Formats: sequence, C-alpha cells, structure tokens
Amino acid sequence: EAEADLSSALSLANIRQTLIRLEDTIIFSLIERAQFARNEPVYEAGAIPVPGFHATGSRYSLLEYLLREIEQVHGRIRRYTSPDEYAFFPEDLPALVLPPITYEQVLAPCSTVVNINTAILDMYLQDLLPEISVPGDDHNYGSSAMNDVTALQALSKRIHYGMFVAEAKFRKQTEQYSELIRRQDSAAILDLLTDRAVELKVIERVRLKAATFGVDLSSGGDGCTSYRVQPEVVAQLYEKWIMPLTKEVEVQYLLRRLDA
Ligand code: TRP
Repeated sequence: EAEADLSSALSLANIRQTLIRLEDTIIFSLIERAQFARNEPVYEAGAIPVPGFHATGSRYSLLEYLLREIEQVHGRIRRYTSPDEYAFFPEDLPALVLPPITYEQVLAPCSTVVNINTAILDMYLQDLLPEISVPGDDHNYGSSAMNDVTALQALSKRIHYGMFVAEAKFRKQTEQYSELIRRQDSAAILDLLTDRAVELKVIERVRLKAATFGVDLSSGGDGCTSYRVQPEVVAQLYEKWIMPLTKEVEVQYLLRRLDA
C-alpha cells in the first residue's frame, strides 16, 4: 500500500493555506451560481424526473441526483477515503477501483463519525441560494446544479476542515480543552475556540475577495463599480452561516476527542 504524502496537504502547519484556498473556491462558485436564476425545480423532488430513490422511498431532486452520481464516480477513485473529504451520501459509497491509500493519522478516530453535510445542504438551500440568485426560471438546470455541487463540495470540505483546526487548537491547549471535554461543556468549548479578532479578519478578507472575483468589468463605464453579487452579501453569508457551521464541527470533534 502506498503511503500518501500528507506532510504538505494535511499537516497542521498548512491548515491556514488550505482554508484560504477553499475560501476562494466557495466565493467563486457562489458568484458563478449567481449568474443563473433560482431555478426552483432543480431542488424539488420529482419536479424534474430523474432515476433513483432515497432509502425512504422519496424521489431525488435533480441536485441530489447529480451530487450522488458525482460521489459514485469520485468515490471509486478514493475521494472519500481521504480524511478531509466527507460525502453527502455516505451510506451509498461504491467500492474502490484503485488500491487503497494509508493516510497518516492526524485526527483522532472520532473524526470518522462527524458528518454535518445534511445541515450544510439545508443551509445552502435555505440561507445561501435565496440570497445569491434572483427568483425565476431560466432553464439552466444543469449549469445551476453543477455550480451548486462545486459550492457544496467546497463548503463541506471547508467546514469539516474545522476538525484539523480543532486538533491544532487541542494540541496547543491540551489541558484547558481536556478539562472542558471531560465535563462535556460544549458552550465553554465553543467559547475557548472562538477568536473574534481572527473572525473579523476572515470576514474582511472574504469581502475583499468577493469584490475582486465578482466585479463586472463589462459595466461601470459611468465610474460606478458593478458586482454580480454584492461583496457585503457574501461576507454576511460567511459570517452568519458558514463560520458557525465550522465551529459546530470543531465542537462536535472536540467533545469526542478523548474517546478511545
Ligand atoms: N486528494 C485525494 C486524492 O486525490 C482525495 C480527493 C479529493 C479525490 N478530491 C477528489 C479523489 C476527487 C478522487 C476525486 O485521492
């Protein structure tokens, strides 16, 4: 078995770089999605007939169908064996067509039971999509769904990367965290891992990136800058929805950090 070289990719020292790169992908894919209308049928089970059913017997929406099919292909070439990748349909993963890789164990064993993709999908559909897309139907169902998948996969990876962030924090303040973990005090853990100064820097950086990636260069001859999505909206979405979910993952991981 090959040993994956994670000395660069998943080492705790490189967390920050990875997070910043994922931030680029998230912001860019949201701006890309914004060029299409809301296209509600993409998200309604049965509105656009596609093959297959959930275990519950309900139909897939077009987005769910596409996401699941993409996970089938990527799963075969090992995507979800990587400790930084989490599937939206983890119960349906296919057998590998490539030999497995052994990854260096950076995270505690509990990392494999943390998966908040259901909450991420709900957040995307209820809180992000309505803010970035205009109401209506332009029939670009495939393009919309493809951008949704790009955004969702980057969001999932960014948010679950919170476990690497949490692990680094745990190693730096092992005593303090261990005490709170033994008490299962999630509020105190959340408090200890929250650094408002860092959060404000992230929000500012997101605003700047959204302005840079989203500026519409074809308009604004009148001297006014025009954006496909207002940078302030992207920054707000990051602060209000995306950051709390990354902290939720950190707390979920830390609560189980000392489990055998
Ligand atoms: N980085 C890992 C790899 O290349 C996991 C991974 C990320 C992956 N995205 C993927 C694997 C897409 C297959 C397809 O194996």
